[in-house]
Amino acid sequence: MTVGTTTLPESDPQAPPADPGDRHSGSVKAWDAPTRIFHWLLAILIAVSWATCEYSEALDDPVLKWHRWSGLLILTLLVWRLLWGVFGSSTARFAKFIPTPLGLATYASAVRYGREPKFLGHNPLGAVMIVALLALLLTQAMLGLFTVEHNDLTAGPLYHYLSEEGRKAATSWHRHLFEEVTLWLIAIHILVNLVYAIFRRQPLIRAMISGRKPASDYADAKTLDGVPRPMFRAAILLALSAFIVFGGIWAVGGKFLQMRLW
Ligand code: HEM
Ligand code: HEM
Repeated sequence: MTVGTTTLPESDPQAPPADPGDRHSGSVKAWDAPTRIFHWLLAILIAVSWATCEYSEALDDPVLKWHRWSGLLILTLLVWRLLWGVFGSSTARFAKFIPTPLGLATYASAVRYGREPKFLGHNPLGAVMIVALLALLLTQAMLGLFTVEHNDLTAGPLYHYLSEEGRKAATSWHRHLFEEVTLWLIAIHILVNLVYAIFRRQPLIRAMISGRKPASDYADAKTLDGVPRPMFRAAILLALSAFIVFGGIWAVGGKFLQMRLW
């Protein structure tokens, strides 16, 4: 099935006529709704995770209950994204957007000469950044499971699996990885997308909101492929992800300390 109503470039002789019923004609479907919802939820929850840790005193939350909830939700979202990278629409599928070294080198050299092709999904350089971001956030959230609060008031649910030394190391990595690596990568990610919007006139940010890009000649347009009933499929996968994360922690004897919300 094709994602949305695709308006191929006018120069393509095989392009089907634009769907007259399409109120977005002149634009092409790029991102499905679940991928977009994932993205903005992830961004919000990262901000929440940071703020609930930084301002835990002001929030009267010495046991970092909100931070741990937010972190576990991020972990669930990330597991969902891994599943969506296999069972989701083509622009979200890892096999479609993770570049080969040759593809990456060819794209990078085309960028140098300002002749790079456009992509509906992630371009090869963007894909590397996205995979790095997802891997870092996954590591960050997994480390959180073993992290101990610095006053020993609380801990991640799997802290008792590590020795005293191991917990200290996990806690230190959990903090430093975020402050010294992940945060910078997120800043670069946002900056690059702003540069694309302002200087290269490619509305990538708008596309992450509306799901659509202006009709043009996209290198990956021919492989564009959606899934039937994406929201339903995404909801099933989300339930599965929550089961994997919360059920998995519970199954291995994890302890959800002081997590009651009321
Ligand atoms: C904590 C903040 C953020 C994180 C962790 C984050 C992470 C990500 C991830 C993981 C993706 C890949 C989406 C996917 O394939 O599932 C992505 C894509 C994207 N993000 Fe963010 N993001 C953040 C904030 C933002 C902000 C504030 C903007 C807008 C200024 C933005 C704009 C975009 C755009 C335009 C894409 C698509 C890039 C492309 O066309 O290749 N992101 N982001
Ligand atoms: C991607 C998700 C996460 C991010 C971005 C994140 C970020 C952070 C940051 C920046 C700190 C240091 C706060 C400070 O000392 O000012 C922190 C501490 C902490 N996090 Fe997370 N975290 C995440 C997930 C988790 C998870 C899943 C858990 C456990 C369920 C968790 C448990 C903790 C605990 C217990 C601390 C306190 C450590 C200390 O007192 O030094 N985090 N987190």
